[in-house]
Amino acid sequence: MEEGRKLFIGETNPDVNCASCHGKDGKPVKAGARDFRVGERMKLYSDSVWIWRISEGVPNTKMKAWKSKLSEEDIWKLMLFERNFGLAGKDGTPTRNHGLMRRAPRLLLLQLRLLSGTGGQVRGLQSREPVRH
Ligand code: HEC
Repeated sequence: MEEGRKLFIGETNPDVNCASCHGKDGKPVKAGARDFRVGERMKLYSDSVWIWRISEGVPNTKMKAWKSKLSEEDIWKLMLFERNFGLAGKDGTPTRNHGLMRRAPRLLLLQLRLLSGTGGQVRGLQSREPVRH
């Protein structure tokens, strides 16, 4: 989360400053950018669509593709951080992140997949194949 925040505000890499358009707290500062604080909206996007948006950008908008500047891992960190805006409490202050906690096992699995570089094959699954003697 903290690493995602640093990426988002351009602290890690000045070339990557999402906050310059999306705002430090998810409130858009440039016209056209969506409000990341609207949970109802955020829910409409699956994690994969979100990742795809960051990686490939949104055609014909100011949102460009970031994949040349960011590793897949960085994009995951960014998504975790951005997703958090939408889970803010009623008064607009971020609360403890229940939604993310519930999804944590799934995220972990996906991350493992990314990191282990087995092309989508998670080790545990292979044990289900018949064993040859
Ligand atoms: C130059 C301004 C600008 C910068 C910098 C920028 N964005 Fe965007 N971003 C936009 C705009 C405008 C849109 C809305 C495009 C549209 O109409 O869907 C957008 C859309 C998105 C979306 C898709 C959500 C949606 O509503 O379609 C995601 C996710 C996103 N940005 C993440 C990021 C991340 C992560 C970074 C930093 C790596 C970043 N953006 C940097 C302008 C920017």
